[in-house]
Amino acid sequence: MQTFSEIADLREHITLLKQDGKRVAFVPTMGNLHEGHITLVKSARDYADAVVVSIFVNPLQFDKADDLNAYPRTLEDDLARLAQEGVDLVFTPTPEIMYPEGLERHTTVEVPRLGRILEGAARPGHFKGVATIVTKLFNIVTPDVACFGEKDYQQLALIRQMVIDMAMNVEIVGVPTVREMDGLAMSSRNGYLTVDERQRAPVLAKTMRWISSQIRGGRSDYDELVLDGNDQLRAAGLEPDRIDLVDARTLEPVDANTTQLVILVSAFLGKARLIDNQVVDLPESKDEEDTSAE
Ligand code: PAF
Repeated sequence: MQTFSEIADLREHITLLKQDGKRVAFVPTMGNLHEGHITLVKSARDYADAVVVSIFVNPLQFDKADDLNAYPRTLEDDLARLAQEGVDLVFTPTPEIMYPEGLERHTTVEVPRLGRILEGAARPGHFKGVATIVTKLFNIVTPDVACFGEKDYQQLALIRQMVIDMAMNVEIVGVPTVREMDGLAMSSRNGYLTVDERQRAPVLAKTMRWISSQIRGGRSDYDELVLDGNDQLRAAGLEPDRIDLVDARTLEPVDANTTQLVILVSAFLGKARLIDNQVVDLPESKDEEDTSAE
């Protein structure tokens, strides 16, 4: 495994891989790697001959300086883990390399609709930061395929849209969320939890599964379901942030054309803001069933 922090050095090695006729898969990360990231790396291997991983805590996507400073940086452990997985190249640039003129003067990329709703409305500028860095990393790595976790549902939808809109020649693969035995979605943010908070954290996934089972059972009083879900989170000592039930394809409110919805949940627990999501197939409505029976 070779590690580079300079753009030109990485480019040179990627050119060599491509000259050898190798297909390149890319996994962008912010480091502090856990099993979720390793699953992305393993998936990447299924799609290509060479795997490139980037580790870069992107300042442009943090809306609060405190969050950026507190973000765990574990480079040595991360590199050891990636070497075990047989990763070919790792890119570890500094903020000065990625934003040489500073954040304010850097060109940005924005996906207007998907970047501004839901999580984007709660964290202004966050998705502009994600779209900008992913574009820049794609331009540097020029991957054939790139893998992203389904855990960040809106991020994945936004990147797919960006790739379509900007005619980027990259196949985007969504990789299912990896969970702990008790259902908690793996995340770097779980590291912020105390022992007691860690025991309570699976309630987020449990509440989401409960909402999902209610919908599959025929409930469509979504506002009530959100209130009930928030109550369940509060009862377990979590502070609900958002529960959104939206069309899984467009992330817009559910309407007559919706066949699948996605439950997007987020809650605060101690210092951590945990997020999760689940896609639910909507049961056919009674009217449709009756019509098809005629
Ligand atoms: O999902 C992440 O870790 C980040 O948002 C990403 C895609 C690496 C961009 O910084």
